[in-house]
Amino acid sequence: MTQRVAVVTGSHKGLGYAIARQLAQKETQVIVTSRKEQDGRAAQQRLSQENIQVDFHPLDVTSDASVQQFTTWLQQTYGRADILVNNAGINPTAQPDEASLLTVQLETMRSTFETNVLAIVRITQALLPLMQAQNYGRIVNVSTEMASFTSMGSDYYPLAPSYRLSKMGLNGLTAILAKELQGTNILVNVYSPGWLQTDMGGSSAPFTADEGAETAVYLATLPEGGAQGKFFAEMRKFGGAVALPW
Ligand SMILES: NC(=O)c1ccc[n+]([C@@H]2O[C@H](COP(=O)([O-])OP(=O)(O)OC[C@H]3O[C@@H](n4cnc5c(N)ncnc54)[C@H](OP(=O)(O)O)[C@@H]3O)[C@@H](O)[C@H]2O)c1
Repeated sequence: MTQRVAVVTGSHKGLGYAIARQLAQKETQVIVTSRKEQDGRAAQQRLSQENIQVDFHPLDVTSDASVQQFTTWLQQTYGRADILVNNAGINPTAQPDEASLLTVQLETMRSTFETNVLAIVRITQALLPLMQAQNYGRIVNVSTEMASFTSMGSDYYPLAPSYRLSKMGLNGLTAILAKELQGTNILVNVYSPGWLQTDMGGSSAPFTADEGAETAVYLATLPEGGAQGKFFAEMRKFGGAVALPW
């Protein structure tokens, strides 16, 4: 069988890097992508030092031109896209305005939605025709349990309105796309990786990026007839794939 081709957005560091690294060890041709060329090349180099070979191409998911350029390159170089992991995301929780819905700047909300929701629509629309051409695709969207509607009234999480509403949008987008893909061998799911030690999660987080990547790899390699349109918790929490309430 021809090697699967996997695109991981925002994969020069953090969770995306861990997902790219683990997928590349599963006989998959991984394309590491990053906004800045030097970041992605450095990641490719780090992986190569571990004898893990990946390809690299620049990709800014908020830019029409960058996504178009990336898609043309992918089509010409590989002629296929089997796996898309929508990992790239931003979280403005450190900004004081994000502490409350009463103070949040609309510009903060707008830019967070740009990256966490609209950009996922953009790259998914671009790569989906390549999946449809071979009736095979696995799309993994990276969300958070803080986006579960049932968690909104909880005292446990920061209010973080831009971040949580944007990830709710991502969850909804996943459900709509799954409905549209019903009956095909293109499976789309969304998951919460848990709180991770990355630039976004900070050093007090309990889990490593590698631990957060496990569920993404599971969803990226689902067999035909596997889960469609589900919101999953991180697998280590329950010792297997368990759906979260929306
Ligand atoms: N860390 C956690 O505890 C946690 C928990 C739940 C969910 N998540 C989710 O996991 C995903 C990865 O987070 P992380 O912890 O690895 O964060 P991170 O270390 O901040 O990495 C985020 C990645 O997204 C990239 N990115 C941001 N905007 C982009 C754009 N317009 N185009 C392309 N790439 C872009 C960043 O690239 P640059 O370096 O160029 O900015 C970086 O590679 C996010 O979707 C996040 O919401 C994280």
